Amino acid sequence: MSTTDDTVIAVRGLKKSYGVSANRFEVLDGLDLTIPQGDITCILGRSGCGKSTLLKCICGLEDVDGGEIDGDTDDLGYVFQEDRLLNWKTVEDNIRIALESNDIPSEEHDDRIQHYLELVGLAENATDYPLQLSGGMRQRVSIARALAVEPSILLMDEPFSALDEITARELREKFLEIITELDQSVLFVTHNATEAAFLASRIVVFEHEPPAAIERTIDNDLPYPRDIDSKEVQELKREIITHI
Ligand SMILES: Nc1ncnc2c1ncn2[C@@H]1O[C@H](COP(=O)(O)OP(=O)(O)OP(=O)(O)O)[C@@H](O)[C@H]1O
Ligand SMILES: [Mg+2]
Repeated sequence: MSTTDDTVIAVRGLKKSYGVSANRFEVLDGLDLTIPQGDITCILGRSGCGKSTLLKCICGLEDVDGGEIDGDTDDLGYVFQEDRLLNWKTVEDNIRIALESNDIPSEEHDDRIQHYLELVGLAENATDYPLQLSGGMRQRVSIARALAVEPSILLMDEPFSALDEITARELREKFLEIITELDQSVLFVTHNATEAAFLASRIVVFEHEPPAAIERTIDNDLPYPRDIDSKEVQELKREIITHI
């Protein structure tokens, strides 16, 4: 199975379990999912239903037990649910390490670091160490780190959940601008139904309990730019909530 022109990642029959023998626990048991080119696919589902496990399998952080993941998984960026910053490196060096490991030419590093730190509102904190930052600031550094690489595909695991609502609103708007400009494809996990209604072109709701299965897929055809407070976004939010 390979991807088609308008699909950047195709997951087929994905299986993943944790533990052994009697303690074996199936988190993914034959899951199918595609990430369409240029789309923002939002995944929602109850805590523990397998969302982060799916993202970790796609990016290769977890070995899978079966099934296929096709697509250009080398050109992929990840915002983890936890920020995973190196506390002994400055903010700018945390981003630089990601640029180096993705073979971004060194002459571009300073500009990209500055640009993406400005975007997340942390230009003044470039030489701080992560332990000097609040949880929401650390999360914004991890967002800047993933965006700075400018990957074709972004996997984002609750990236805005640690932010106050005003900062989250600003970042969602900027995020939409960037991914439109760079024509990126996104798989985005959130617990926030309003955020999904605002950002997503497609919303996938998982069943309550693992193994993860798709309870409902909702296409979101509302034209961009959207107003998060609009009647249409709020109506869609209510529809999403009925399926969670
Ligand atoms: N490394 C691990 N070892 C054992 N069990 C794990 C491991 N990682 C996750 N699990 C279990 O797998 C299930 C799915 O976890 P996962 O982190 O994918 O959930 P999630 O949908 O992302 O939840 P949340 O919304 O709380 O982040 C949970 O029951 C969890 O306890
Ligand atoms: Mg999770």
